[in-house]
Amino acid sequence: MADGKTALVTGGAGFIGSHMVDRLLELDYKVVVMDDLSTGKIKNLNSAAVFHHTDITKPAMTEIIQREQPDLVFHMAAQTSVTESTKNPIDDTNANVLGTLRVLEASRRAGVEKIIYSNTGGALYGDPETIPCSDDAPITPVSPYGMSKWVAEQYMDFYYRQYRLNYTSLRYGNVYGPRQDPHGEAGVIAIFSRAMLEGKQPSIFGDGTQERDFVSVFDVIDANIEAIDRGDGKAMNIATGEATTVNRIVEILRSITGYKWDPLHAPQRAGEVYRIALDCTRAAQELDWSPKISLEDGLQITVDYFRESMNPSGGVPSTS
Ligand SMILES: NC(=O)c1ccc[n+]([C@@H]2O[C@H](COP(=O)([O-])OP(=O)(O)OC[C@H]3O[C@@H](n4cnc5c(N)ncnc54)[C@H](O)[C@@H]3O)[C@@H](O)[C@H]2O)c1
Repeated sequence: MADGKTALVTGGAGFIGSHMVDRLLELDYKVVVMDDLSTGKIKNLNSAAVFHHTDITKPAMTEIIQREQPDLVFHMAAQTSVTESTKNPIDDTNANVLGTLRVLEASRRAGVEKIIYSNTGGALYGDPETIPCSDDAPITPVSPYGMSKWVAEQYMDFYYRQYRLNYTSLRYGNVYGPRQDPHGEAGVIAIFSRAMLEGKQPSIFGDGTQERDFVSVFDVIDANIEAIDRGDGKAMNIATGEATTVNRIVEILRSITGYKWDPLHAPQRAGEVYRIALDCTRAAQELDWSPKISLEDGLQITVDYFRESMNPSGGVPSTS
């Protein structure tokens, strides 16, 4: 499939990016990674990839793209924290808008065939009146993160129309799975899985009735692969279409881990959407993609990963 092609993954040491790198290597691409390791980890990164420890907001990244001459770019590097974006919107815009613009400009100059952009669906539509929210629902972000990711998508579209630099923008729901950072502020499944396995009490922001569309990282990687040859010049949701409450996630994780206690509750956070699920009709039509991994199976895979990473010898840590 790769035909000697080179794929660049920006943010390739991150949660989603590192799985993207693994899959591209399996498909025989030469894989190049640019990551500043601000949230990514070198231990996530497949050693068969060529790694550049680079900040995409700095001019040096242009030379790297020129030298590596990628055919494809999977643009996944971003400031990904909603809370951080509300505290520091200038840094968020610098990484997500200006960083993306540098990737686009360097890609145009290097003759890249296509950019596949990791966008957010969860933070783009605000609190939509009807869910699941269609691919064409009004864009009304309620956080600087949602705004910066949206503006970056608009630049993708500009480069497509102006310079024929091809792109597909994939608007993800809440992605979860192995390697998600359990110490971050996002990624409720990683945080709760780890806490329950350690016998610690996780904190739910709000009363837990908020709903999200949780999609497995492996389904998200499939969508990126399908987008290599399809979905040109289009943006589409990548999720499940199902809204699941945080309380339901807790319930399933408790049954998988055997955790007995109730979680704590903390105040709701600024910029958070209350209820979202994403209709994925366009991805089905354009990419022939639909999610394959059920929530129960996906949560089991995630808990197994955290259990193994906490206890590589294979023993089962006690949760009581
Ligand atoms: N995880 C989700 O639920 C989710 C949902 C919607 C969209 N996304 C998008 O998917 C992409 C990947 O997210 P993730 O969850 O894997 O997050 P992550 O934080 O694990 O990955 C982001 C990666 O980008 C790197 N990075 C950040 N700023 C950089 C910069 N200026 N220069 C170079 N590298 C930089 C980080 O070190 C990290 O490795 C992001 O673009 C994010 O907006 C994620």
